[in-house]
Amino acid sequence: MPNIEEIKERIEKFVVESNEHLELFRLEYLSKKSELQSLLGEIKNVAEEKRKDFGQQVNDLKKKAQEFYDNHKSRLESGVTYTSGKIDVTRPAEMISIGSMHPVSIVMNDVCDIFERIGFEPVSGPEIEDDWHLFSALNFPPHHPARDMQDTFFVAMNPDLFLRTHTSSLQVRTMENNRPPIRVICPGRVFRNETITARSHCIFHQVEGLYISENVSFAEMKQVLLHFVKEMFGEETKTRLRPSFFPFTEPSAEMDIECKICGGKGCNVCKYSGWVEILGCGMVDPNVLENCNIDSKKYAGYAFGLGIERMTMLKYRTNDIRLYFENDIRFLKQFAGERK
Ligand code: DAH
Repeated sequence: MPNIEEIKERIEKFVVESNEHLELFRLEYLSKKSELQSLLGEIKNVAEEKRKDFGQQVNDLKKKAQEFYDNHKSRLESGVTYTSGKIDVTRPAEMISIGSMHPVSIVMNDVCDIFERIGFEPVSGPEIEDDWHLFSALNFPPHHPARDMQDTFFVAMNPDLFLRTHTSSLQVRTMENNRPPIRVICPGRVFRNETITARSHCIFHQVEGLYISENVSFAEMKQVLLHFVKEMFGEETKTRLRPSFFPFTEPSAEMDIECKICGGKGCNVCKYSGWVEILGCGMVDPNVLENCNIDSKKYAGYAFGLGIERMTMLKYRTNDIRLYFENDIRFLKQFAGERK
């Protein structure tokens, strides 16, 4: 006689992946010719004192087989299939964390997108620079106090090499290797030997812009930069252009926008002035053009350099630049879903 325990085990191990499997199960355990059926027929032949117990066990087994069948039938009907064994593929998957874009990267990409849409092409270059590309070609005279504007990290083994203090070095590289018209943006990381505070850091990011062609005007530059600010911070954003000085541009200016953190009331980011400087700009100095073998009588151009961390602070109303470099996951997580 078939062993009840053994049948029970076989039922439990039976794999149902398709309707065909289910039918096989039915034939083997639930049909008229099944072992179970013959067990049911046996009940009446079992000795009286064991009959009740035996009958109970056979009926439990039948119930189990029927339940197994019914469950798999409804599962197959609902379209869920097991790939193998007893894995419950209907169980919701555990969420995996896919991370998020760093806020500085988000803003960097936003800035590049805005300029790319109006015809600027992105280029990149080395973070370790020589004196020519970083200073001399950009019209910083030797020993001129202008060099002191930027506290530079030197490379100990080679006095001619520095960590770049600005992305303006890429202007020189681009002009040396291309002929006008030139219209590029140069996103990149820069380094300055500065005390780390809530407003400044020794590492930060800039996007440099350069346009060289015939008949380029300061007015054109101003419109391009105004367009940028509106795209980036909204149509209503207040701006102001102040005269300034850079060795590589003449005339030079700096652009401020209203402080988005305090709304102009005054805070640590705008130094209680209501305005935050976001870029330096100007008409490329003819000396710089000549240093890069571009005829300054025929061509003119403008250049600008944007500070990315500043703009990120304004965009996300963050009052401490150090948050961007500490990489505290609780801070970074807040930017998930900001940009695809
Ligand atoms: N290089 C300057 C800085 O790091 C920013 C800058 C100012 C870039 C004027 C320019 C420019 O291209 O025209 O502070």
